[in-house]
Amino acid sequence: MCGIVACLNEGPATGYLLPALRRLEYRGYDSVGIAVTTQDGAVARLRSVERIDALEAAVLRWAGAPLGGAGIGHTRWATHGGVSTANAHPLSDCSHRINLVHNGIIENAGLLRRRLERSGHRFESAVDSEVICHLIEDQLCDAGDPLLAVRRALSLLEGSWAIAVLDAASGRIIVSCHRSPLLLAHTASAVLVASDIAAVGEWVERFRVVDDGDVLELSDVEQHGQSTAGATVFGKTGGVGSVETPGLGGYVDYMAKEIDEQPTAVARLLAELADGVADGSLWRGLSMPAFERLRVVGCGTSLNAGHVIANLVRRFGGVPACLTVASEANSEVVEPDTLCLAISQSGETADVLRAVTTCAQPGTLLGLTNNSHSTLARSADAFLSCNAGPEIGVAATKTFVCQVIAGCALMISALIAVGRLSTSSAAGLVDTMESLPQRLAKATAAAASVVPDIAEKYCTAPGFIYIARGTGVPYAAEGALKLKELTYRWAEHYPAGELKHGPLALIGSGTPVVAVRGADKKLAANIAEVEVRGGHVVSVGTAESTIPVQADLAAPWGPLECIVPLQMLARTIGLTLGWDVDKPRNLAKSVTVE
Ligand code: F6R
Repeated sequence: MCGIVACLNEGPATGYLLPALRRLEYRGYDSVGIAVTTQDGAVARLRSVERIDALEAAVLRWAGAPLGGAGIGHTRWATHGGVSTANAHPLSDCSHRINLVHNGIIENAGLLRRRLERSGHRFESAVDSEVICHLIEDQLCDAGDPLLAVRRALSLLEGSWAIAVLDAASGRIIVSCHRSPLLLAHTASAVLVASDIAAVGEWVERFRVVDDGDVLELSDVEQHGQSTAGATVFGKTGGVGSVETPGLGGYVDYMAKEIDEQPTAVARLLAELADGVADGSLWRGLSMPAFERLRVVGCGTSLNAGHVIANLVRRFGGVPACLTVASEANSEVVEPDTLCLAISQSGETADVLRAVTTCAQPGTLLGLTNNSHSTLARSADAFLSCNAGPEIGVAATKTFVCQVIAGCALMISALIAVGRLSTSSAAGLVDTMESLPQRLAKATAAAASVVPDIAEKYCTAPGFIYIARGTGVPYAAEGALKLKELTYRWAEHYPAGELKHGPLALIGSGTPVVAVRGADKKLAANIAEVEVRGGHVVSVGTAESTIPVQADLAAPWGPLECIVPLQMLARTIGLTLGWDVDKPRNLAKSVTVE
């Protein structure tokens, strides 16, 4: 998803911009660009629809006046307008004085564009963001001053934005945000701005969150920061290591590495959380109010993790729990005493951030995220890190497993604290939990020996059906999601009992049906229904399965071990078909538009 950086540096701005853009790569992008002042008083605008290497090569080839210290940069994930150099940011106005990078969506762009075109503005791109450049151009004629012109232009916009504007005439950089995150930080020689602390965390210890609606000029940042210190949020980056992009470490892709890291990541998470589960202290440490109901909010994989957590809360605590698809949250009716658990690995998903403004009552928002510096972590009343470490592959793997474990650990602790679960039952669950790293490692090894042949057999299948019952259903959902993301093939999941109510019509000779075995024995009858119609069942779970991972069917989080072969199956088929499994088409790691 789009990422912004800006920098005012004593040395060349590219020294910060290019590495910062590289650190934003993990969010997914389809074009990248920078605009940098030159020492002859102009601005060089370099853009590419290839990877950041191509942009770096363009900077090295730059034969114009030496590049200066003020610059803005952007990784774009196309929403309005296709992937082309013309649509890549930075975008510009008619005179090419204004250079702009933008995250977010301008909802009234169509109307503004028509008005601007009627008054003579010429657009170079199909991107909604370009209207901001032309509005600033117009306002400059009246206001004269770029800061005032930006402020006036922004007052005409509807939607969401984080922007950085570089004025070629003065070399000044102006930044602002509205419902889209933007952070400021300083090094000894530079003022840095980024939409994600990962971009600049290597160079700074602390950062400041730009307040919604602020319009700041970078040279004024120190002064502005002091004058509004009471109203701004400061954060610590937690040191370089926590935000660094790791290498492949000998793996061919990040997804393979991250699947293999799951047992270690879970062991690390449990080392941190397990002691606070059985005595309720993990929950009490968050100082959240007691609750009668749970609402889990999320999207995609995070919502699947939330489904596992909701199942545990219902089955073990008898607490009503519901799932809210974040993008559909605005018409929800929230009952009193509802705890809202918002789950997001990035903590920046716009749908989730918007949802929690409508479906969380004051004081009841608990965030579960893999990014302690994220907007969700900062805005929640309390948050828990799922501590999966950096996940670069766009398709979530280890963050899913860690969300499940962190969420279940927290909810068991909460059920103890509110007297819905006995300490002895909880202690038993903690023991079971502590066996998970080993069980996940075994599942990885077991899957490695059978998944390649299964992938080979089914890689030409046009579509797949995933089925499960009870606690297995979220894993079937997650397996189908992984398959769609990585192979671009149809994959749907159903609670197996639903097959006979319609989807059974899809089963023909050779249709692959992946069955996730859980505790519910009725799945055997559903498998038989498929086989008798010619479907090919690939079962995952118990010892007699096609992929025998020996899942613990009685665990309150269900057959978690099954997710490992499902991730591997999707990855292997994706690779067989020739796709980039780390960067699936059309997808982004951090989805910052609604
Ligand atoms: C799937 C995947 C997405 C995300 C979804 C929410 O592999 O990664 O479905 O789970 O976009 O993202 P977060 O968790 O960042 O809120």
